[in-house]
Amino acid sequence: MCGIVGYIGKRDAYPILINGLKRLEYRGYDSAGVALTINGHIDIQKQVGKIAALEELVEGKPMQGTVGIAHTRWATHGEPNQRNAHPHTDSNGDIVLVHNGIVENYDALRTMLAEKGHVFRTETDTETIAHLIEEIHKTELNFEEAFRAALQELEGTYGLALITSHDPGKLFVARKGSPLVIGIGENEYFVASDASAIIAHTRDVVYLEDGEIAIISLESGHVTKTIMNEVIEKKIERITYDLERIEKAGYSHFMLKEIYEQPRTVADCMRGRLLPEEGLTHLGGLTPIKDKVIRAPKIIITACGTSYHAGLIGEYMIEEYCRLPVEVEYASEFRYRDPIIENDHLVIAISQSGETADTLAAVREAKRKGATVMGLVNVVGSTIARETPGGTYIHAGPEIGVASTKAFTSQVTALALLTVMIARSKTMSAEMGRRIVQELKILPQKVEEALKCDAQVQQVAREFKDNTNFLYLGRGYNYPVALEGALKLKEISYIHAEGYPAAEMKHGPIALIDKDMPVVFIATRDSTYEKIISNIEEVRARKGRVIAVVSEGDEKLKDMVEFTIPIPTTFNFLQPILSIIPLQLLAYHMAVLRGCNVDQPRNLAKSVTVE
Ligand code: G6P
Repeated sequence: MCGIVGYIGKRDAYPILINGLKRLEYRGYDSAGVALTINGHIDIQKQVGKIAALEELVEGKPMQGTVGIAHTRWATHGEPNQRNAHPHTDSNGDIVLVHNGIVENYDALRTMLAEKGHVFRTETDTETIAHLIEEIHKTELNFEEAFRAALQELEGTYGLALITSHDPGKLFVARKGSPLVIGIGENEYFVASDASAIIAHTRDVVYLEDGEIAIISLESGHVTKTIMNEVIEKKIERITYDLERIEKAGYSHFMLKEIYEQPRTVADCMRGRLLPEEGLTHLGGLTPIKDKVIRAPKIIITACGTSYHAGLIGEYMIEEYCRLPVEVEYASEFRYRDPIIENDHLVIAISQSGETADTLAAVREAKRKGATVMGLVNVVGSTIARETPGGTYIHAGPEIGVASTKAFTSQVTALALLTVMIARSKTMSAEMGRRIVQELKILPQKVEEALKCDAQVQQVAREFKDNTNFLYLGRGYNYPVALEGALKLKEISYIHAEGYPAAEMKHGPIALIDKDMPVVFIATRDSTYEKIISNIEEVRARKGRVIAVVSEGDEKLKDMVEFTIPIPTTFNFLQPILSIIPLQLLAYHMAVLRGCNVDQPRNLAKSVTVE
């Protein structure tokens, strides 16, 4: 939700800022803007639309300077037009800032400032911050003091980067609820919402925590403080992944690249974590809380979007193998409804980004209630990872496509490892543990096999690209896969799609079925196979068109339905890792055929750091 980049050094800042923004475009792409300090004066350019539109604008009016900030926006307050694009300024253009987050008390602040004569030019909450600092700075305070005093007045969330002609050789940043990382180069500094924007320049970073600010200058380096002016010593951390992993590597879209990376990412999630001889799994990140994890009498999983669907699969597997009650809840509901959490319960927060505002708030709520909270997170060093006492990284590498793909299969893989870890400490036999671990070892090969369905999926996509509604049905472990398949289609091709447990169809969705309603069944051979065949018959009887994801060698369904897409089989609880692959590809090809922007679907953002 909005991306921020900043630079201070000796180089030309504009190319660094614009290239950094391109890496953050997944965070929002409603408008973009850049500001540079030039001879003590601040020059701003902004444009509605994607970063390419800003680039075009700046080409016509080149900018120079060695200190600057830039922003890509996902609109919250105020329509996504040029006026509302960041950076925003105070009355005279002396205080210029970019913001990620929401100022909740902006209305009250705006009224107070308007009474003092401030004129607002935009509908954004962000502009209020610039005017508030300006107002406070009119008093005796120096600029840094005014900056800190203003932050104390703000309610809500912010990641902020600011430059000012009052103190032109400095970059001011602050964080509360929206991520910010400072990159440390050779006599130059970078600021960004996430490290992918600066990794081309440096791997040494400092993560700001909530309530911290930093003042960065070439003379004094980076000084981190609380908003109350206490200096904080920060640890410099090193980023280990490389740039190649966040580039397209010859694929036409990040999403396709990420779908095809899955044999590797599933393997990476298990690397060093399987103990085949003992039939055990080892999750090092859980060591500090392992006893509590194993002894918890109840587990609550909380997440949003795709991560929530992975959580539903986690529920099924943990209940089946660990015989523990599990609840899965949308983080946005969990945080507001005063859930019943005992202090021996385990709460698992699943999040690709580790920054989703609702999931983070759920983590904090569960911690307040005394539960043991673990994160199941992809982005290393993200807020959820840092705020949980133990956790498991899924190691999927940077996921750029807004529609989550490889993170989902890695989340399910990590949940399987956790399930085995807990189950083996309870009733699961060593023999069963060994069989599962053996199967996990060959799972990446099966993912590779599953990807071979691409040509068939493309044929299906060509056939159905003009349909406007889809139904996705599955049972058991394949029910959350139906939800996730439908979500993928909605997200990137804007086709209305619903996922249902197949047997629920007769309680409503069956009324929708006619010759224009394609129904995607996930019908791999498992304990519900015969039942799902009956559901397929029910659809066929009403002339619905059936596409079925089936187990390799299933001749029966091949004769029954219009299109089958065969994939390998595995243990039922691991099947979603394979079943989802054709559905990811289907959404992808449909979107491409319909001319949609696959990696940056309208209205969505990869990382949702607002409620
Ligand atoms: C956004 C993304 C989804 C993602 C969800 C949860 O809506 O577009 O792809 O599943 O947030 O994100 P998280 O980073 O917490 O997994």
